[in-house]
Amino acid sequence: MGKSVAESIELAGVAALAAGVVGACGALVLLGLRGASVGTQVAAVTLSAVLAVGVGALAAAYAMFISAADLSSLAVIVVAAGWVGVVCAVALGRQVARASRLLGVRARRIGEEGSPDVPPPERPPTRELAQLAEELDATAARLEESRRRERALDAARRELVAWVSHDLRTPLAGIRAITEALEDGIASDPQTVTRYLGTLRRESDRLAALVDDLFELSRIHAGAVELSLEAASLADLVSDAIAAADPVAAAKGVRLGGRLRDAPPALPLSTPEFARVLRNLLDNAIRETPPDGAVCVEAGIEDGRAFVAVADSCGGIPDDDLPRVFDTAFRGRRARTPAAEGGGGLGLAIAHGIVAAHHGDLTVTNTGPGCRFTVHLPLPS
Ligand SMILES: Nc1ncnc2c1ncn2[C@@H]1O[C@H](COP(=O)(O)OP(=O)(O)O)[C@@H](O)[C@H]1O
Ligand SMILES: [Mg+2]
Repeated sequence: MGKSVAESIELAGVAALAAGVVGACGALVLLGLRGASVGTQVAAVTLSAVLAVGVGALAAAYAMFISAADLSSLAVIVVAAGWVGVVCAVALGRQVARASRLLGVRARRIGEEGSPDVPPPERPPTRELAQLAEELDATAARLEESRRRERALDAARRELVAWVSHDLRTPLAGIRAITEALEDGIASDPQTVTRYLGTLRRESDRLAALVDDLFELSRIHAGAVELSLEAASLADLVSDAIAAADPVAAAKGVRLGGRLRDAPPALPLSTPEFARVLRNLLDNAIRETPPDGAVCVEAGIEDGRAFVAVADSCGGIPDDDLPRVFDTAFRGRRARTPAAEGGGGLGLAIAHGIVAAHHGDLTVTNTGPGCRFTVHLPLPS
């Protein structure tokens, strides 16, 4: 036994040289296999490793002048061990290839509409593939969410078009009937003519308001509301809105009042847009409040934000309706009993959009004898 250091070094050199030559050939083969399947490449890598070790061992044994019988035993051992190694490598390669194929199928299905919930394949055999599978799952979830939003938006748009065409048709039919009556001279006495003209004016006002609302809403939906913000006094805007709504409230016998709690400082507001928010809230409150009821507008500072609240005596909004009042074309009870007054269910959706464009929020709660719509706005820093 007992080899000298020099002999050991020589032996290692012979083994390394032989293994190196085989390894280099293996590297060349691998280069030629670029683009081949994972299974083939893993098999090639393992085969070159096994061959390198085997050839190295045989070369060293040969250099040691071991007997021919021992040499052939060693050859048998190397071949057997190498064979097992290659079989294992091919099995692993196949597993990886199968997992990659399944991931590919999954990725393709994600792109196809209507089959978002492809069950994930069994746990991928490598960490990289597992991460890829997770990424795919996350992408699928995001895609499905945006498809859901798109479907909801589409349904809302269809519903809006249905409502609006109905709303446009009714006043148009009235206008047409009246103009025909006037044309044919059926209505000729001055009193009837005056009454007809009054109706014509009201109906065309309603149509104009509806078209205006639609235009505003489409700007909001398109994210195209351009606010020209200027420092404005919330108190002034509120008192202007109350003054404008007062005649309508008085005619209906609704008491309309305002209250100021710690006057907020001047806020960056787009005056015409914000006046529209207040007008929509006040119109609704007065319309929904029975005669003898009260509508109260309050403004001030609350929890570090400016606020305007419109409280009415409508008797409360049904719990089911509360989360839907800001939906486009939602009209609560009147949806089932179309009334002459009121708009196309767009007022609150518009108000909500305008307030959001001011970085504020618009909420509603049932309190006291009715409900209370509150606009919160950030205070200038
Ligand atoms: N102040 C309020 N009190 C009670 N219900 C309200 C009030 N404001 C709005 N609503 C309900 O919300 C619905 C939507 O309001 P809005 O978007 O302004 O449309 P519209 O006024 O055309 O009906 C109304 O039809 C009504 O049912
Ligand atoms: Mg309204």
